[in-house]
Amino acid sequence: MARVCSSFLLLVLVLVSSVAMATEPSPLQDFCVADKNAQVLVNGFACKNPSLVQADDFYFDGLRMRGNTSNAVGSKVSLVTVEQVPGLNTLGISMARVDYEPGGLNPPHVHSRATELFTVLEGTIEVGFVTSNPENRFITKVLHKGDVFVFPFRLVHFQRNIGNVNALAISTLSSQNPGIVTIANAVFGSKPDISSDILAKAFQTSNEVIENLQFKF
Ligand code: GLV
Ligand code: MN
Repeated sequence: MARVCSSFLLLVLVLVSSVAMATEPSPLQDFCVADKNAQVLVNGFACKNPSLVQADDFYFDGLRMRGNTSNAVGSKVSLVTVEQVPGLNTLGISMARVDYEPGGLNPPHVHSRATELFTVLEGTIEVGFVTSNPENRFITKVLHKGDVFVFPFRLVHFQRNIGNVNALAISTLSSQNPGIVTIANAVFGSKPDISSDILAKAFQTSNEVIENLQFKF
């Protein structure tokens, strides 16, 4: 009986740990270039016939130029995910070029499916993330050229250029499709709007303040 119990316990532990450690599944072949025309729906994309794969399936030249930072926040995130590079399908990785004008902010956001490794190539950038409830601890640092910082999986984070020249960073993300949820856009810019009563209560403010924010987003 004791042996049956301990085998059962072992089985449960194996199952639980494989669920708890799950990330994107490991590839079962050298590559599985995304076939965007395939009719079959899978988690990710179906594979293109390997004999039709070309170098261009693994290539992207869209990061040569500075991103256009003429917007309300003064920053531009240019993503390189499976959308831009079909060869990234099933490989569990993507990246972004992030440009900032002086004072430019990549506003508080989360990646629904990725941890982010952030490297400053030019400038001085203040970064931060907030841990989950109930601590909500704010962890922040000023980064200089060559510095690296981690934003852990799904935590709210931001970056701000605190120098007086343009800044540039490269991010690597642990998913072929990391997802970005910008907090202000999700909360105040949802379509249709979340009722202002709900947000007024959540943010402990008036409906008027909320409607003002909803108007902006
Ligand atoms: C991109 O999402 C970044 O935070 O750099
Ligand atoms: Mn990010």
